[in-house]
Amino acid sequence: MTDFDYRGGVLHAEDIAISDIAAQVATPFYCYSSAALTRRYTEFADALSGQNATICYAVKANSNQAVIRTFADLGAGADVVSEGELRRALAAGVPADRIIFSGVGKTRDELAFALAQNIHKINVESVPELQVLGELAANREVEIGIRVNPDVDAKTHEKISTGRADNKFGIDIGQAREIFAQARAMPGVTPVSVAVHIGSQLTDLAPLRAAYETVAELVAVLRSDGHNIDSLDLGGGLGIRYKDEVPPSMSDYARMVQETTGNLGCQLFVEPGRMLVGNAGVLVTQVIYDKHSESRRFVIVDAAMNDLIRPALYDAYHLIRPAAEPAAGTPQSAADIVGPICETGDTFTRNRQMPALQTGDLLVFDSAGAYGAVMSSTYNSRLLIPEILVNGKDFAVIRPRPDYDELLKLDRLAKWQQSEG
Ligand code: LLP
Repeated sequence: MTDFDYRGGVLHAEDIAISDIAAQVATPFYCYSSAALTRRYTEFADALSGQNATICYAVKANSNQAVIRTFADLGAGADVVSEGELRRALAAGVPADRIIFSGVGKTRDELAFALAQNIHKINVESVPELQVLGELAANREVEIGIRVNPDVDAKTHEKISTGRADNKFGIDIGQAREIFAQARAMPGVTPVSVAVHIGSQLTDLAPLRAAYETVAELVAVLRSDGHNIDSLDLGGGLGIRYKDEVPPSMSDYARMVQETTGNLGCQLFVEPGRMLVGNAGVLVTQVIYDKHSESRRFVIVDAAMNDLIRPALYDAYHLIRPAAEPAAGTPQSAADIVGPICETGDTFTRNRQMPALQTGDLLVFDSAGAYGAVMSSTYNSRLLIPEILVNGKDFAVIRPRPDYDELLKLDRLAKWQQSEG
């Protein structure tokens, strides 16, 4: 089995060498392991078995249709946050009745599209959204979820924390009764689910437990108000190891879910993204130049912040290592690993120990399967990079590299700029 799963930074790719793929598709590229995707999903499904839980893969983490299909084939549903993601999930074979639509700013058109597809559930996040949905649902029966903001600090990076009262997400827990009542009073709308998601890359169970306890208390209150709450959406998954984090185990998470929600008799939905794909993928790049200035060493690689923005955006750590492991005792020195883009933010790391590198040497960024390719752009008119899915000895190009014609064709001259004739 080919498996890039994080094991102390050692590449486990027994059946196919990164260098073979690089020789055929050219760098930079993302590379995912089918075996690792399958294993992560199966482990999580096993951990939750017996709890009437459906795993709705959070498509935003890695929305390549081949990746979604891998999970769909294992029985997963999908959590989507836009019409584009909804279309991807459907195209990849996720049944509509296993799709949940989350997000703070779903437009009227997106809501109408989701209703027309008969997806499993729309999680409403505000009163104005509820009103739009009420208008659209007037001639039909729609069961909805309402996402609450439990005001819990998830203790993660502030840019990916979502469950505090000053974050834009969900309705305040204190307004929940009022808004559930408002929803029920709308013709065609029945609120049957409470949703919560407090943030991503969580490495501590305590905030999640606090959020789930709060939600469980709310369910009891809503039921006493006469609502038929039959499901709970427990939000995203656990954090992963990038460096030395010790995320909670799946079994500890599952036990905590049982302890906090087990007596409610609700159908459960979980929306993991990162934990299913993060450590199942790598970014492969090659050295352009190993440049020594008077005071620093810069390893300039052919991937850049437009391909992987996490270090620039969140100061995120990715383990970076030569694809060909250096012999023991090879001298190393501190290097800044940077891309070719014209800004200093295009720095993947500073002061990382690296052996001497030659132009063309391959470097591998670990833990790049989640929020990597999906957050890429064409900044500096760089082409989006390919995505590869490995399966045993085989690999498939699941997104080819576009050519420059395709890039140039995205723009149009304004009509008054077109030459005559
Ligand atoms: N459900 C909802 C409603 C979400 O907002 C998210 C993530 C998830 C599920 C999936 O969470 P996960 O299992 O992946 O932790 N770009 C950032 C992460 C943003 C997460 C946004 N929401 C990063 O690169 O760290």
